[in-house]
Order: sequence, then C-alpha cells, then structure tokens
Amino acid sequence: MSAAGRSHRVTAPEIAARKGGEPVVVLTAYTAATAKFLDPHVDVLLVGDSLGMVVYGFDTTVAVTPELMIAHGAAVVRGSQTSLVVVDLPFGSYQESPEQAFRTAARIMAQTGCGAVKLEGGAEMAETVHFLTQRGVPVMGHVGMTPQAVNTLGGFRARGRTDAEAIKIREDARAVSEAGAFSVVLEAMLEPIARQITAELPIVTIGIGGSPACDGQVLVSEDLVGLFDDFKPRFVKRYAELGAQLSEAAAAYAADVRARRFPGPEHVFGTPKKQTA
Ligand code: KIV
Repeated sequence: MSAAGRSHRVTAPEIAARKGGEPVVVLTAYTAATAKFLDPHVDVLLVGDSLGMVVYGFDTTVAVTPELMIAHGAAVVRGSQTSLVVVDLPFGSYQESPEQAFRTAARIMAQTGCGAVKLEGGAEMAETVHFLTQRGVPVMGHVGMTPQAVNTLGGFRARGRTDAEAIKIREDARAVSEAGAFSVVLEAMLEPIARQITAELPIVTIGIGGSPACDGQVLVSEDLVGLFDDFKPRFVKRYAELGAQLSEAAAAYAADVRARRFPGPEHVFGTPKKQTA
C-alpha cells in the first residue's frame, strides 16, 4: 500500500497489517495547509503534542490542552484525504483513569474526525490502552523517551543506557502491545533496544531515534524542513532549510517595500494593463 493512488483514508487496522512489510511513513502535521502537502506522501499524519513546542513556543509539551489538539486535529483532517490521522492525547487528559482517557479520546475523535489517538506510557498505561481499544478507540502507544514525562525523566535524553532502563522499555512496549495498541512509537532509545522490540512484538513499531529495523519511521515536520531550530536532536535529518528560505524571503520583501519596488503595477487595482503588440 504505497501512498500514491490510494482511494480511501488509511485505517488503523491497515497500518497494523503492515507489520514486517513496507515501512510505514509518518510525519507530524498541525495545520490544514501543511497536511495538504504531506498527505500524498505519507501513511499517517500525526497531530503530535510537539505542536506545543514547534508551533506555540513552549519549552515542553506539558502545557498542551485537549482544546488545542482538537483545533489542530480537525484542521489536519480537513486538509488531508487519504492518510490516517492520529491525534495525541495531551498531558493531564488521560493519565488519571481509563474513564478520563476514554472521555478525552471520544471527544477528540468526535470533534476532529481522526482515526486513532496516541498516548504516552508503558505498563502503567496498559489498563487504559485495553479500556480504550475495547471501546472503539484505536491506540498508538509511545514508549522510551516520553516527552510528557520530561519533568520526572529529568530531560530529553535518550533512554536505555542502563540494563534496568533497557528492560523497562521492553516491558513497557510489550505491555501496550498486549493491551491492544495497533502500533507503538519507540522514541530516543539505544538502537539495539528498538531493534529487539520490533523483532519480538507482533505490533508495528514506529521509530524516532529508534532503529532502521522499526516497521516505520516518524519525524516532526518542522524538524524535517528546518522550521524549528531551537535544538536539533541526533535523530533528525533535515531534508530542506525552509526556515532560512523564509528569512531570505522576508528580507527581500522588506528591501522591496523600503525601496518602493513593491507593490508593482501588477499588484494593485485600477491601473492600465500592459499593452501587448
Ligand atoms: O508529539 C509528537 O510529535 C510525537 C512524535 C515525536 C512521535 O509524539
């Protein structure tokens, strides 16, 4: 199932069926305009709570609310046609209880039209993942470096450097898999751990700072195209430098306005059209 020529929106079960097959391509999207450009090329558009950092300028994702996720999730659904749209459950909107998680997920699904939600956490979230998946909510898990836990983890560093941490990550991934998640994001962990999890679990693994062996890969689109440069994690590969291009365009525009080169006659109304011979 390559992205070209798809006639319908990809579903969570279709992504689940890609285990060990053609790699699943995932990018984040937060706006309708961006979603439109990305949609033909990816399988999944993730409305990540990373938007708190790359769009809203917060230091962490902790301040993101369900209302923000709904506004951006609905925009991404409107801007896309065939990708599965997955929306993050933000910090504080699901950790309290399975019931709280269901209320948030149901609201987000109903008000955005997305096809699945993602939540962070391992063994401690297994009961919640089970509760949701038994009630019509497809869940993508997220283990390893889980940004919503930055305050307990003590920073955004890669995980799994000690045996105890490596074992915990594997147990977490297994727990969300057994609880019914259709896929799991493996973020920022030592490569052999992500490789091993991918080999031993029956669900699709999506790597970001994981392993090339993962069943799919995800990047934050602003990282991909150079629109976020506060910091650049090791796992980011830049495919464009749109931030630099934006800055150049703004400088050229500013110079034109200051020199009265813009607007030209072709940009204003009621001036004679150029005569053609
Ligand atoms: O919020 C996000 O963009 C994410 C990805 C980094 C996987 O969770």
